[in-house]
Amino acid sequence: MSTRAWRALVLGSLLWAIMGAAHAAAPWWRGAVIYEIYPRSFQDSNGDGVGDLNGITTRLDYLQALGVDAIWITPFYPSPQVDFGYDIADYQAVDPLYGTLTDFDQLVRQAARHHIRVILDMVLNHTSDQHPWFLDAAHSRSAAHHDFYVWSDGKPGPAGKPLPPNNWVSLFGGSAWRYTPAVRQFYYHLFYPQQPDLNWRNPQVEQAMTGAMRFWLDRGVAGFRLDAITALFEDLQLRDAPALGGLNAQGDPILSDVYTSNLPEVHDVMRRLRAMTDSYPGNRVLIGETYVPKTSDLDAWYGGARHDELQLPMDTLVGLGNRLDGATLRRLLYEAQTQLHGSMPLFVFDNHDQVRSWDRFGDGANNALMARLVAVLLLTAQDAALIYQGQEIGQTTATPTRVEQVKDPIGIRGWPKEKGRDGERTPMQWTSGPQAGFSTNPNTWLPVTANFRTVNVSSESADPHSLLNWYRALIALRRTSPALRDGRTVLLEASDANVLSYARVAGGSVVVVALNLSATPRIFAPDLAAAGVSATRLHTLLSSPAGMSASGVAPTITLAPYAAWVAAAR
Ligand code: GLC
Repeated sequence: MSTRAWRALVLGSLLWAIMGAAHAAAPWWRGAVIYEIYPRSFQDSNGDGVGDLNGITTRLDYLQALGVDAIWITPFYPSPQVDFGYDIADYQAVDPLYGTLTDFDQLVRQAARHHIRVILDMVLNHTSDQHPWFLDAAHSRSAAHHDFYVWSDGKPGPAGKPLPPNNWVSLFGGSAWRYTPAVRQFYYHLFYPQQPDLNWRNPQVEQAMTGAMRFWLDRGVAGFRLDAITALFEDLQLRDAPALGGLNAQGDPILSDVYTSNLPEVHDVMRRLRAMTDSYPGNRVLIGETYVPKTSDLDAWYGGARHDELQLPMDTLVGLGNRLDGATLRRLLYEAQTQLHGSMPLFVFDNHDQVRSWDRFGDGANNALMARLVAVLLLTAQDAALIYQGQEIGQTTATPTRVEQVKDPIGIRGWPKEKGRDGERTPMQWTSGPQAGFSTNPNTWLPVTANFRTVNVSSESADPHSLLNWYRALIALRRTSPALRDGRTVLLEASDANVLSYARVAGGSVVVVALNLSATPRIFAPDLAAAGVSATRLHTLLSSPAGMSASGVAPTITLAPYAAWVAAAR
């Protein structure tokens, strides 16, 4: 082992000893609050208009005060940046745009001092077309890395010109196959053509990627968020995908993904990756980007009753669509408690690929109340909770208005139906000063959203009624309340479609949560005894809007429109 690798290993073990002492009991990730950082847009430390690793380090005090357990940083590896880092050209280095490996080690060390773990994004499904493996693979069929990717000779076409082997389309638009004249074959790309899919049927691919993961585990990372993980394998026979009817925003036919997603082989890989990460001390975690249609489908990603795959496949609550609806939420919460063999759901409302929940659920008039309600749901449910940077201050989605402004290639290609993901990736708003305190450079890679003078960390920190302080109070309560930390969930009020209410119960510690999802006041009079909760008085802990409280021994409360109310039961 080289001196460098040895030093990294010693550093990693030391960090884990410190973190382990601080969190001795249950695995830290159960009930954790995980904060997603999109590094391009979090904090620029060198004035180039793009965020970087040292920028993150300077904001650790903020993250600690917010109360997060871990940060997940989206890719910062060397990359041509076609998909802003999700096209990786080297899995074991840092892109100079974001800093150096030394900066990274420093970030992990400083984060540990702030009791914050660092989770990396690991893109196993594809590499950049500039990765040395692909450059090698694409120049000759006999190249050492040719079989690292998914190739096909295609079908004979007119005038001897081959056609793609099937009808598969890329999620980012157009055919999922691109012809490479040097090898006279097509390669498969689920995302951009610059993101060729790896061939996971080749054991060398798994070996190489496992090596890359070990490289970071040895440096002390707390785990990985596995990008596009359901897409690792494709049908061996490359059968045409059944058409589901209609066209998507990119103008391509909408196809079933039976042959390109969730193939059973992927679970063997997940088990091996889990065994590998489990061989490290400190409960390293595997999070999955698992967009699956039903809660019950998520169970397989945990390894069902065996619990031997991912600890936290994301529950993106796809069933909600763009509406917060009591009946759907009640069902989703119930399913998360009953269909996952006791595993911990990871609830996600916001990320760097989605219109922010502020805009998705907001009606234009009550967005601020809705945002508080989302925060309560996320932070009082029996879950691990994912917060996306800016969610905690109510950053809004700033969708480009002209195609010339668009940076995300999906938006350039799909304009105007598909405007891309720039809107949810604008710089973090820290202050009311120049560039919202994100950068000293007026040419930030995406423009700072116009509302930064009022929506920013610094003004909200000073305002006791801000969304930021609401998040802080909720996270603090979640850390200190045994009911919120470890309690089971009892759903209350099963009949009112406009109210979602539940109790979290751990022995004598009971917290009751009631959310009014409608524009009209609702009476909330839970029958706690019938729900098996032995408590009669409810005492307000947090109230949005402020000032709601229950009265009487059989507690009754009028919930204001879009109210979120959290109470202790005695
Ligand atoms: C995931 C990422 C997204 C990226 C895609 C391809 O969905 O979240 O940002 O474009 O994978 O890597």
